[in-house]
Amino acid sequence: MVNMAPSFYVRDIPVCGDAILAPMSGYSDLPFRSICRELGSAMSYTEFVPAPGIIHGAEAVMRRLMFTPAERPVVFQIFGADEITLAEAARRIEPLQPDIIDVNMGCYADDVALHGAGAGLLREPAKIARIFTRLTQTLRVPVTGKIRLGWEAAARNYLEVARVLEESGASLIAVHGRTKAQGYRGEADWEAIGEVKAAVRIPVVGSGDVRSPADIERMKNHTGVDAVMIGRAAIGNPWIFARRERRDVSFGEVAAMMRQHLSLALEFYGAERGFILFRRHAHKYIFAVPMADALRNALANARTAEEVMEMVEEYQAKLEVTA
Ligand SMILES: Cc1cc2nc3c(=O)[nH]c(=O)nc-3n(C[C@H](O)[C@H](O)[C@H](O)COP(=O)(O)O)c2cc1C
Repeated sequence: MVNMAPSFYVRDIPVCGDAILAPMSGYSDLPFRSICRELGSAMSYTEFVPAPGIIHGAEAVMRRLMFTPAERPVVFQIFGADEITLAEAARRIEPLQPDIIDVNMGCYADDVALHGAGAGLLREPAKIARIFTRLTQTLRVPVTGKIRLGWEAAARNYLEVARVLEESGASLIAVHGRTKAQGYRGEADWEAIGEVKAAVRIPVVGSGDVRSPADIERMKNHTGVDAVMIGRAAIGNPWIFARRERRDVSFGEVAAMMRQHLSLALEFYGAERGFILFRRHAHKYIFAVPMADALRNALANARTAEEVMEMVEEYQAKLEVTA
C-alpha cells in the first residue's frame, strides 16, 4: 500500500486503491476492518451508527466509532431521520477525527427505513438536500452518502438523489444497485450504478454482487466507477482485497488469519463479546475444504475461543497428515 498513487480524492482526502470493505453492521468492526485494510481495502467505513445514540453517548454506539490510525482514511457512517439530529450527531463525533462522515441512505430494515432513516430518506429528496446542505456547511470534514436505487421498482429515483447530493455539497456517492423493496433479492443493477457515475462529477463507488477479484474489474469496466465496495463476499475472504482467488489461499493461511482475527476481537471487545462476534465470522472462513460442513457446524456451536482454535488446529493437522 505504501507509495501507491491516489486512485481518487474525496474532496481533499486521497484514496489509494479501488476496492473497499463495505460497511456491514455486525461485521465491519475495527478487528475485521483492520484485517481488510492491511490486505488492500482502500479505506475503512464503520458499521452504521444511530445519530440519536451518538447524541446520548451510548457506549456500544461510541465503540463502533473507534479505529486505528492504520485504517485511515476512516469514514464514520451515521444514520438518522432529519437534519437536526444528524447535524448534532456529526458535530459531536467530528472531534474524534474521522477523515469523512457518511450518511446511510440504504438501510432497508423496517425499523430504520419506515422511520424515515436509512433508505427511508430516498423518499424525501428535499430532506436529503437539507441534510447535506447543513452537514457540509457545518462540518470541516467531507460529507458523503451511501444510497440504494430508490424505495421500490416504481420509485427508482437514484439519478435525482445523486444530483441532489452533488448540488448539496456531497463529496462522494456510494450506490448499492438495489431498491429498498428488494432487500438483497435479485441481481444488483450495474447499469444504474453506471448511470449515477455518468450523472455526477464527484467520485462514485459501486456496491452489489462483487464476489471475486475479476468482478472488481468487471464492475469498474461496466460502470466506470472510481471504486467498488465488497460486502458479503469479503466475510471469510479478506484476501479478495489482495486480489487473490479464495481457492489459492491455503488452509494454513486461513488458520493463521483466524488466529489473528480472534486475537484482535478478544483484545477489542474482551473475552465474552469478542468470542461471540468472532464466531459469526469463523464458519465463513471454512471454504472449499474436505468435510467443510462438519467443521462449519462444529465452529458454529463452539462455546469458547480456545475450543474454536483447537478445532481449527486439529483439522489443520489432519489435513497435513492426509496431504
Ligand atoms: C450483514 C450486512 C450488514 C450491512 N450493514 C450496512 C451498514 O451498516 N451500512 C451500509 O451502508 N450498508 C450496509 N450493508 C450493505 C452493504 O454495505 C452492501 O451495500 C450490500 O451488502 C451489497 O454489497 P455485497 O453484494 O458486496 O454484499 C450491510 C450488508 C450486510 C450483508
